[in-house]
Amino acid sequence: MSEQKELPIGVFDSGLGGLTVVKALRQALPQEHILYLGDNARVPYGTRSPETVERYAWNCANFLMKKGLKMLVIACNTASAVAVPSLQTRLDVPVLGVIRAGARAALQNPEHRRLGIIGTAGTIGTGAYPKEIRAMSPEVQVFQNPAPLLVPLVEEGWIDGDVPTLAVQRYIQPLVQQQIDVLLLGCTHYPVLQSVIESELRQMGSAADVVNSAVAMATEVQQALEMHHLTRSGEATGDLQCFVTDMPSSFADAAMRFLGNPVGNVVKVDIT
Ligand code: DGL
Repeated sequence: MSEQKELPIGVFDSGLGGLTVVKALRQALPQEHILYLGDNARVPYGTRSPETVERYAWNCANFLMKKGLKMLVIACNTASAVAVPSLQTRLDVPVLGVIRAGARAALQNPEHRRLGIIGTAGTIGTGAYPKEIRAMSPEVQVFQNPAPLLVPLVEEGWIDGDVPTLAVQRYIQPLVQQQIDVLLLGCTHYPVLQSVIESELRQMGSAADVVNSAVAMATEVQQALEMHHLTRSGEATGDLQCFVTDMPSSFADAAMRFLGNPVGNVVKVDIT
């Protein structure tokens, strides 16, 4: 068991966005080793069919599993929405997806009765969040809206000013009209725009809380490690090793935006 505790947590995403989950994990569990895989050769997942996303998710999981893991975290909302059940059934490590974590976090405040969700077209199309939320709290009303343009804006680093503000307005307006009391950011990239989103909600007169599924995921990982007696002990900071399927140097530059510090050597791999 003590050897198992030393193994890394594997985290994957369609690209860069999952680093918001890595950032939250590093803050909550600094002693853990993390292997991160960004499938940036095939990003975005959010516009693809569930069958394709599931196949990509298996490619990512198989690559990381071969390295030896104690837990697999699917940081990508779109991949979590379609691939969690099959990965959980067939892999022999705990598999955590961001959908359950986000749903739990959005329901944490029992006063929340009208829940808004934004995510990629893929995530919203599967209905995975409403399904999870209704299973946990059937009386809560759920309203969703896809917000596809927010992903390329964040990828471009266009995270303040008129353009993201207008896009955010368009996407959250129908949800504000439904008088939501909580807004769940159901996509890896959206936490980067959280301050724009919060400020637009207030401009529209909404007091809705904003829930960031990346932070919720880190809490869920912490609890799962404790439950399985897999938490790495000691004070030493864990290593972060990043793998990508394309353009490692531009990934390293953009990763600075997500993590706020350098990610070190990024290795390009073929996972197909
Ligand atoms: N990682 C994706 C998600 O959280 C966003 C980017 C993409 O579409 O691949 O849904």
